[in-house]
Amino acid sequence: MLITGNSKEVSRQVDFIKSSGKTVGFVPTMGALHRGHISLVEQCNKECDYTVVSVFVNPTQFNDKEDYKRYPRVPEEDSKMLKEAGCDLVFMPTEQEIYPEPDTSIFDFTPLDKVMEGAFRPGHFNGVAQIVSRLFDIVKPDKAFFGLKDFQQLAIIRRLVQQVNRPVTIVDCNIIREADGLAMSSRNMLLNADQREAAPTIYRVLMQAKELVTELNPDQLKAYVTDQINVNSELKIEYAEVVDAGNLQPIKAWNDAQSVQLCVAVQVGKIRLIDNINLI
Ligand code: PAF
Repeated sequence: MLITGNSKEVSRQVDFIKSSGKTVGFVPTMGALHRGHISLVEQCNKECDYTVVSVFVNPTQFNDKEDYKRYPRVPEEDSKMLKEAGCDLVFMPTEQEIYPEPDTSIFDFTPLDKVMEGAFRPGHFNGVAQIVSRLFDIVKPDKAFFGLKDFQQLAIIRRLVQQVNRPVTIVDCNIIREADGLAMSSRNMLLNADQREAAPTIYRVLMQAKELVTELNPDQLKAYVTDQINVNSELKIEYAEVVDAGNLQPIKAWNDAQSVQLCVAVQVGKIRLIDNINLI
């Protein structure tokens, strides 16, 4: 497995691989890898001849400086896990390598970026679009793999590749959960014991909500989810939204959309967790 921080070396290596007719798959990450990331790498290995993984904590997508500082960074462990998972190339750039000049590009993903994470984390998706388009320029993958835990991010990345007309297939991969249902996230390692014990309530409530679709309307379901999560004193809901899975806009009646997603963001102390479930 090749590990490099040099973007030119990545592009050269990918060009070389592609010149022999092989396909290149890409898994962008911010490191602190867990089994969720590894499942993306495994999916990539299955679908592509050559797997590239990037590990870069992207400053432009953090609207909260403390969150950026706190974000876990464990490059040695990450490299070890990636090697075991059969990754071919790890790109671990410095901030200077990615942003020699500040990135001033502005993206507009209206209406996808106006709700949920977009509303609560101003500038977040612009930063995600900046880094993902830069990484796509360097890696030029045939396919790129993203987890469905970041449901809104996935919709935005699909829109991004349409807007910039980039020939990459976006593959969405299932949420990987701990045995107690907590969605895997690099942020989970920042939870203390009490917070970790409380966190699986999030998914438990999402599953209860799915059972209640025939009894409650979308607004009532949002209120139910908010109350049930807030019952646990370690958890404070930031939003619970029932949205059209296609355009991410809140719905008022179940037949307002063909496919409906329930998305939540929850503060657990200083740590912010997100999760979602398909309702219809
Ligand atoms: O989902 C993430 O980990 C990040 O948002 C991504 C896509 C790697 C961009 O920094």
